[in-house]
Amino acid sequence: MAEYRFLLVEDQESVRKSLVAMLDSFDVDIIEASNGKEGVEVLAKDPAFDLIITDIDMPQMDGIEFCTWLKAESVTQAIPIIIVSSFDSDIEIDRGFQVGASAYVSKGEVKELLPETVTNILSESTFRRSQRVLVVDDSALIRKVLLDALLQDGFQVVTAEHGKHALDVLHETDVDLILSDIMMPKMDGYALCEAVKKDPRLAPIPFIAMSVKEKRRHMKKSIQRGAAAYIVKPFRIDELIILIERILSDQFLLLLKEKENLTMERDMILAGITSLINALEARDSYTKGHSESVATIVTGMAELGGMDQKKIERLTFGARLHDIGKIGVPDALLFKRGKLTKDEYDQIKLHSEMGSNILAPIPSLADVLPLVMHHHERFDGRGYPHGLKGEEIPLWARMTAVADTFDAMSSDRPYRKGLEFEEIVMVIKDVRGSQLCPDCVDLFLKWTLANGFPVQHPRGLHFDPS
Ligand SMILES: [Fe+2]
Repeated sequence: MAEYRFLLVEDQESVRKSLVAMLDSFDVDIIEASNGKEGVEVLAKDPAFDLIITDIDMPQMDGIEFCTWLKAESVTQAIPIIIVSSFDSDIEIDRGFQVGASAYVSKGEVKELLPETVTNILSESTFRRSQRVLVVDDSALIRKVLLDALLQDGFQVVTAEHGKHALDVLHETDVDLILSDIMMPKMDGYALCEAVKKDPRLAPIPFIAMSVKEKRRHMKKSIQRGAAAYIVKPFRIDELIILIERILSDQFLLLLKEKENLTMERDMILAGITSLINALEARDSYTKGHSESVATIVTGMAELGGMDQKKIERLTFGARLHDIGKIGVPDALLFKRGKLTKDEYDQIKLHSEMGSNILAPIPSLADVLPLVMHHHERFDGRGYPHGLKGEEIPLWARMTAVADTFDAMSSDRPYRKGLEFEEIVMVIKDVRGSQLCPDCVDLFLKWTLANGFPVQHPRGLHFDPS
């Protein structure tokens, strides 16, 4: 199925054909109609369209009549419309916008302008559809007018009758912008604005105050309480929509910037930690590349298991860090050639808790801490550090445990050679359900098949790095 669905309404078949060709670069299903009446019939069967492109001059029902119909129907009123027409007079263009078109493209410039206009309209409508506005007003009529206008423009809308009601709505629903009257019973707009700005979860939501009293002190008072803007009633709906769009896009850019900064900060931290792990593993030829191998295997398992891409990225990240705590284990133990004593083994066992403690102060790594902490738990509850059992062990840690076991057995150790692939699979199958999570083992075996095992690797039988 294509990403988008467009309705193209145009009476000339040759023009329809060339418009369809111009939209070739979009992943879109285009349904064609030869006049407004046919367009209405198509929409009556299924109104799920992302965009309507219409001509004006058509038989039976022209484009202006068609747009008027679209904007009057609740199921079609939010669909953006682009008028593509030969009427280039200002009056005609104005008529198009008056009946609710989002853009006007002259047929003379359609080749140059249509793809860009479609891109802009789609990103705008995707943005609007994701934005929810809370309208707070004690007047049912004003609530209705604003609700209809904002819905028609593609926003999601929730309403409240006064400040107290608005706070209830805000605690149940995520809202991107608050548009509130000032004078209201129970809790007025000032008190609402103050309550919103005091609550750390709600404080970033932009607040637009509106009031009939065109007095400077009202404007000042609401801005002092943290409102982003003030609008005086009566106002034109299109002015309000422009104001809302401006504030939301400013807010969007701000959030985007914050996100970019956070991502940059996280990437820098990751790069730093990865270098530390590489340095740690590079000191010993037997463990060199272990964390990266474990991360690769776990990523492959997660992809086969259908995990969400964002979660896979975090899991890969966590798997790379799983042994970070070994930084705190003395080299004499870590690289000891002979068998470990019980005390020595107990000291090595501390690495999972140490790893979690090392990463704990970094808030953006909170989601990977359970993996680091629990990658040596056993499914039967006999692992460490907490002796968690079965599904008490976080899934990412159970997956990492399988990959860790495999990679450890496939690599050479000072006291033994890496095992053959068949031997490793036998051991892993043997501990399925006791040491290792059965579902994760199954996923791992599926992954080995998908990767054409066994594959020779310089440090033993190993996965195919390609
Ligand atoms: Fe470990």
